[in-house]
Amino acid sequence: MKRRNDGPELVGEGDTDYARYMRTDVLLDLQRRPEEVIHRDELLFQVAHQSAELWLKLAAAELTEAVARINAGEPSPAELLLARATLAVRLITDQLDMLAHLRPADFQAMQPALGNGSGAESPGWRRTQTAGRKLSDAFATFLADRGVDLVTLYSGEPSEPAYRLAEAMVEFDDRVSSWRVRHYKLAIRVGSHGVIGTAGSPSGMLAKLIDYRFFPELWQVRASLAMGRPVGESCLA
Ligand code: HEM
Repeated sequence: MKRRNDGPELVGEGDTDYARYMRTDVLLDLQRRPEEVIHRDELLFQVAHQSAELWLKLAAAELTEAVARINAGEPSPAELLLARATLAVRLITDQLDMLAHLRPADFQAMQPALGNGSGAESPGWRRTQTAGRKLSDAFATFLADRGVDLVTLYSGEPSEPAYRLAEAMVEFDDRVSSWRVRHYKLAIRVGSHGVIGTAGSPSGMLAKLIDYRFFPELWQVRASLAMGRPVGESCLA
């Protein structure tokens, strides 16, 4: 029986098995050291971004596996995997609140440390985007192979696996859009947005992206059904 004060048994860096498995020595060394920082809030800034990258790494991995499950004709596992990716996006949305503690002057003061870096270069976000687009294609093929169109799908039972998957996709889209709303407001608050309303300004770009959808056809068909179009008359034509 393992006792709490047994020594480490795993190989790796660190004094404990926790440190060796979680690689905490490396992880906690990934932030700029006190002697490097030009502003104390760099720690807050890096922790918020680095932890978002980790959640996005998970989101992209779950989306990628969900695509594989859809391609294998397994919508139910895909739905569960998609729910994990959606929760990751929800968590990084909540994390944005921490960055609202940055005063515009402090954010300005740390600019030299950031070089030309932009969140738009986030590898986690890019992978999540790519996987989301693949999921859209996989779902379209899944339905086409079965001769099901979206109106028929949404006229069926909500408990149907494909219906539930479609709803999980809508939820994912919704959460990404919520992240973008929150992120847009944060950029305005921290003052890094350029002049509001100026064409081509960062704030204009962020505002426009709020309406981006990975799965626009799902939203279109929902809208057409809500407007009472006869079932069977596709709004996608
Ligand atoms: C104080 C915090 C933040 C500010 C002031 C900020 C500001 C901005 C601004 C102004 C842009 C427009 C492009 C540019 O001018 O670079 C942008 C884009 C972007 N930022 Fe941030 N950001 C912050 C935090 C974050 C965090 C934590 C993430 C998480 C990964 C993130 C991810 C992105 C992404 C993915 C874009 C591309 C636009 C999109 O796809 O919606 N940002 N950010």
